[in-house]
This record gives sequence, structure tokens and C-alpha cells, in this order.
Amino acid sequence: MTVSYTWVQWNKHKKIYDLIMLALSLIFVATFILTSTLVYKDDEAISAMILAIRAFGILAIILLHIILCIGPLTRITPLMSPILYNRRHLGVMMFFAALIHAGLALLFYGAFGVRSPFAGLFDGYHAYTSISGFPFEIMGLFALLILFVMASTSHDFWLAFLTPCLWKSLHMLVYLAYAFVLLHVVFGALQSERHPALATALIAGAVTVFALHIVSGLKEFKPSLQAQEADAPWIDIGLVNDFPMDQGRVVCIANQERVAIFRHNDGISALSNVCAHQAGPLGEGRIVNGCVTCPWHGYQYHADNGQSPPPYTERIPTYELRIEGERVLLNPQPNPPGTPVTPAVRSSEPSSDEVGET
Ligand code: HEM
Ligand code: FES
Repeated sequence: MTVSYTWVQWNKHKKIYDLIMLALSLIFVATFILTSTLVYKDDEAISAMILAIRAFGILAIILLHIILCIGPLTRITPLMSPILYNRRHLGVMMFFAALIHAGLALLFYGAFGVRSPFAGLFDGYHAYTSISGFPFEIMGLFALLILFVMASTSHDFWLAFLTPCLWKSLHMLVYLAYAFVLLHVVFGALQSERHPALATALIAGAVTVFALHIVSGLKEFKPSLQAQEADAPWIDIGLVNDFPMDQGRVVCIANQERVAIFRHNDGISALSNVCAHQAGPLGEGRIVNGCVTCPWHGYQYHADNGQSPPPYTERIPTYELRIEGERVLLNPQPNPPGTPVTPAVRSSEPSSDEVGET
């Protein structure tokens, strides 16, 4: 799907997603500032600028947690796949929230001194050997620099220029950025914060991210399905109703090879799980406008031939399926990319209206 350069790759779904996320983010910032103003009064009153700094910092860290949890969540349950579609736009939004936070913090806290606020970042009033006086802003700066590199290379142009492998490795730095953000808050806000809410939320967030990665990793290593008999290559991959309508399911066959199964209209089809764009997991996607749609960046394929709809030219391998009684059988031998395969149907398949969601 090589297309001409556009600054932001939007389609209708992505625009709606972005608008919803932007509205929720603004509502969060406004609610945070308003509530804190009402709660902390008189002697305890906090300036609106400090509240804005905190609100954007907390918004950025919440978005970062959501971004880190989306991947493993969609591996655990396909119900989460709709939010996977626009993860890169969410990442750029998170970077801007962090940038506003950092910019306001530098300008506000550094504005009263005689030196430039940036100079204080490195050789300010802090002691590198003290926990409470540690220059936590530097940790934030490292995180922000990584987030900047990721946000500015998020466009498909950089994906093609850097090659998917390098691009992916670069974007793995998000975990390093996350570590810096945690240190930034532990050495910064937590040193003066007496209320346990921030510390509790931080620990709960880190535990959630860690646990989800472990659980989804274990799920990836489930044993592969093997052919039933040596001379009968067909593999039993489950009941027809194990495959929800218009949503992908990944089955793992010998050698950890993955096949994406889609039940659409009256038939079931099988495709390679590897998207031709950047090897995204197609089986974690769903059917959008009649086509299998990759959860990562929305590349599309016809379920019955593995070909992208014109004018696109991507092709992926297909597999043969057949249904015996209620059981779905897969021939693990892949067909060459783009090979048409008639979807498997029950011998007396009910019409689409009669087939309920599982
Ligand atoms: C140059 C970069 C950064 C600077 C100079 C900076 C500065 C600060 C300062 C001064 C505070 C204390 C604010 C206060 O309590 O009054 C703070 C807190 C915080 N920062 Fe940063 N920050 C930077 C980057 C980041 C990044 C990249 C993130 C997240 C993605 C982040 C998240 C937070 C959070 C969650 C807090 C705690 C808010 C609270 O007080 O409840 N910061 N930062
Ligand atoms: S990996 Fe990018 S669309 Fe599939």
C-alpha cells in the first residue's frame, strides 16, 4: 500500500478515534485543575500553573500506560483490538502532553532565576548524591527526548526509510522512556507528596504493565496444534462457533507458525498471520468494510484470496480449510501469496441472519 506522502495518515475511523482521545484528554486536564482548585483552598491553594503542570504530567503518564497495555491486551483478548488501530496517533498525543508539561515546568520554575531555565536542568540547585535533592527533571528530559524521537519517526515514511526492523527496535525504546518516567516521578513528586494516591497509582500501573506482558507472553507460547495423523495433514483447529463473526483468531501450528482465521458471512477463511506491511499480527485484527484489516496500521486483505483491494498490490499466503460436522480443519501447507481459496462452509450452513455472534 505505497501511497504518496501525507503529513498525517487519517481515515474516518482514525479521525473519530483521535477526536475522542483528544476530547477525553482535555476533559481530564480541565477536571483535574477544577477539582484541585475546589479541594485545595486558602492556605493550601495551589496556583493554576502548577496544577496545569501536574495535570499534563499525569495525563502523559496515563497515556503512556494505556499505550504500553494495548499490545498485550489485544493478544489476551481480541475485544481490545479496536483500540490497537491508532496506537501511533495516541503516542504522538502523549508526546505533546509531556512536552506541554515539561515546557510549562521549565518556564514556570525557572522563570524567577537569573539563569536560563535550561541551565538549571543540569547544574541547578540539586545534589546528585541526595535522594530528595536528585535532579529528577533530567530523568524527565531523557524520557522526553526518547518520546520525541518516537513521535517524529512515527510516520510511514520513516518506517520505510529506516526499514521495519530498525524502526521496531527504535520504538522498543518506549520501555526505556517508561523507566525514566518512573524514576522522574519517584525522585521528584513522590519525595514531597504525602498523600499515598500517587505512589499507589504508580505501583499499580507498573504492576499492571508488567503482569500483562507476562500473561500475553505466556499465551504466545501455547503448544502448537499438530496434524492428527502423518498421512492426513489436516489439523483440527476447533469448533465453528469458536471463531467469532468478523473478528480474527490466531491458531498456532507446528514450528510456532501462526495462521489467522476469519469467519465472515457464511464462510471461514485462513490467511498468514503476518501482515505484508510490517509483519503486524493479522489474526488480532477484524473485518472492516468486508476486508481483513491489520490491527497495526490498517492494511487490508480479502479473506478469500489474501490480496489487498485495488489499487493496492500486497499479497499474503492463504490456507485451505474444511468443515466436518462442527469441526474446522486446516491444511497447514500455505498456498503461494494471493492464491484464491473458497471459504469453508458447513454442509447445511444457515444464512448470515441466522448465525449469531459467539
Ligand atoms: C524536560 C522534561 C521534564 C521536566 C523539566 C519535568 C518537570 C517536572 C516537575 C518540575 C515536576 C514537579 C511538578 C510539581 O509537582 O509541581 C514534574 C512532575 C511530574 N512529571 Fe515531569 N518533567 C519532564 C518530563 C516528564 C515526562 C516526559 C513525563 C511523562 C511522560 C512526566 C511526568 C510527570 C508526572 C506524572 C509528574 C508528577 C505530577 C504530580 O506532581 O502529581 N514528566 N515534572
Ligand atoms: S503491519 Fe502495518 S498494517 Fe499491518
